[in-house]
Amino acid sequence: MDSIWTQTAVFPSFPALEGDLRADAAIVGGGLTGILTAWLLRQAGADVVVLEADRVGGGQTAGTTAKLTAQHGLKYSQLLETLGNEAASQYARANLTAVDHLRQLIRQQDIDCDWRDCTSFLYASDAPGPLHREYDACRALGMDVFLTRNTELSFPCEALGLRRQACFHPLKLLSALSQGLRVCEHTRVLEADGHILRTARGTVTAESILFTCHFPFVNVPGYFFIRQHQERSYVLALEGILPLEHYYLGTGGSAFSLRSSGKYLLLGGGGHRTGEHPEAGRYELLRQTARRYWPDCHVAAAWSAQDCVPMDGVPYIGRLSRRHPNWFVATGFQKWGMSSSMAAAEILSSLVRGVPLSADAAVFDPRRFPVRASARQLASDTAHAVSGLTRRFLEPARVSAEAIPPGHGGIVDLDGKKVGVYRDEAGELFAVSIACPHMGCQLAWNPDEKSWDCPCHGSRFDFLGQLLDGPAQADL
Ligand code: FES
Repeated sequence: MDSIWTQTAVFPSFPALEGDLRADAAIVGGGLTGILTAWLLRQAGADVVVLEADRVGGGQTAGTTAKLTAQHGLKYSQLLETLGNEAASQYARANLTAVDHLRQLIRQQDIDCDWRDCTSFLYASDAPGPLHREYDACRALGMDVFLTRNTELSFPCEALGLRRQACFHPLKLLSALSQGLRVCEHTRVLEADGHILRTARGTVTAESILFTCHFPFVNVPGYFFIRQHQERSYVLALEGILPLEHYYLGTGGSAFSLRSSGKYLLLGGGGHRTGEHPEAGRYELLRQTARRYWPDCHVAAAWSAQDCVPMDGVPYIGRLSRRHPNWFVATGFQKWGMSSSMAAAEILSSLVRGVPLSADAAVFDPRRFPVRASARQLASDTAHAVSGLTRRFLEPARVSAEAIPPGHGGIVDLDGKKVGVYRDEAGELFAVSIACPHMGCQLAWNPDEKSWDCPCHGSRFDFLGQLLDGPAQADL
């Protein structure tokens, strides 16, 4: 189902690329980061083109809950411990500045995007120790936070608030910013080579190439496939509930995200690593939670989102590698795409223009490799990749096609070859290769979304084998 953002925003449509063209800067990806960066560059007089594989805002921006905040879970206690005071301070300042600068931009341009200033809260229903440590970390970094037991929530909890944050309608903002930009929709970039981007419809030659396409498809240089993984999470839009003035994120393992938008309450949660979700029930978990707290509510929409999770908990924003000084990247935003998009747009547009960067940009340098902060996640991600790859060759198919009930999928043996099979509600079977075209890992069935998902780096495909999410670039 589409998100409430997709259902309520009107977008201009843009033609696909036809033939070859030139620009000062070519941006791969028409989500919030790409469009904000293009907008800032165009304001500075640059000739920019955005290449979008689908429609502007058709990717992860449509699935966000659009909470613009520098409060990123228990981030600051983690960063102080793993990266130290300077990096944690840079991260905090960069995100606080991003919130303020996006607020200024929207006010100055008088953009109607349902903007609302509010307080961002982390809450803990039990075991408040981590919340208190986060409070101490935020105070040590000079952030304007406070602890309270007095919240709007219908259950008892303790909460850590950060004032002067905001929320908005992400696609209304994107729609307004994209007006007047040079955008090519339905134009998937297949290859980057120096200053040239190749698509099936022509080429773009540009002084600067920017990858703002969620997970960069370029494997080398950058090596993002070993420096981040992807996770999925789920959202319900509920009607019939009194709106919340502020927004909330729980700190425990099964905690939820809560935010109001107009007549809807957005209830998010049920997250898991992409490709590791054998049992259905993530949406049902949210429905049960909704029924428990708001028995009379009604589910108006349900959708999911996918996030890139970097090894050390900090996005990669900046120059992609020494080998290609004209390539720039923004990825690894975790669940914090709104402030990260604005921070990335300012960093990337400054780099393209040759303007000195804020000192805080250093924390995002994609060429970093903090060993201590990355070791645990690197070991875990490597183990997942090795497992995903070897499973394809060593693990036998466990079910037969006859055993797959309507509406379900599984990996079956077909004449000695493993294939992925989905049986639709009418009983028709759809078979696809289970080898991910990115790097060959074995795909896994996602029963909640009826998709084939890759546990290695998070590419996804529908039951017909059509590409939903990269870094893969091709259908099955
Ligand atoms: Fe990399 Fe599938 S996404 S192997």
